[in-house]
Amino acid sequence: MINIAVFCSGNGSNFQAIADSLKHDSSAKVALMVCDNPEAFALERSGKMSIKSVLIERKRFKNKEEFENEIIKNLRQENVELICLAGFMRIIGPALLKKYPNKILNIHPALLPAFKGAHAIGDALKARALTTGVTVHFVDEQMDHGPIILQQSLEIKDDDTEDSLAERIHQIEHQLYPEAIKLFAEGKLKVEGGKVKIS
Ligand code: GRF
Repeated sequence: MINIAVFCSGNGSNFQAIADSLKHDSSAKVALMVCDNPEAFALERSGKMSIKSVLIERKRFKNKEEFENEIIKNLRQENVELICLAGFMRIIGPALLKKYPNKILNIHPALLPAFKGAHAIGDALKARALTTGVTVHFVDEQMDHGPIILQQSLEIKDDDTEDSLAERIHQIEHQLYPEAIKLFAEGKLKVEGGKVKIS
């Protein structure tokens, strides 16, 4: 059984879906939720689910390295072996990447490498794309980049709004992220030459 930490800045619906899905799983459990935003609804969710959370605000630290070192201290206390970014609105820096090589996952609401960035759902609509989707990937030093683990596509309907599309994307996310986490926890993911092999 590995301990995982979920990092959130906002709503935390993926955090909740991951925690719920792992409740009856023997391969991993959510040991900690790391949050950088005191207003995040994810903090309320962690309280309700009785999952330990820590609020670490970037503005309290001189630089990114000190901010990440404080996060690392908290992760070590909980013996965290996997980090799952779930709506964490920061680029991960060298301190965390070095301590957790190929042990940080992210979920993105588009089929990477299409529609990177914080507005992926709206950007796909504006581009009049016919299809978009969800990607779970390992995190590297670039934003929304790194070896892809799982992807699932969905059709954009003519009458979709940002809200209706976001709702269907979130439904997929809530299935796909736990699936990728279980693959990791069961030792089924290997990164070879920048590509993920699933055994
Ligand atoms: C998700 O759409 C995820 O793909 C993106 O941020 C959003 C987080 O939503 N990285 P929530 O906070 O998990 O509800």
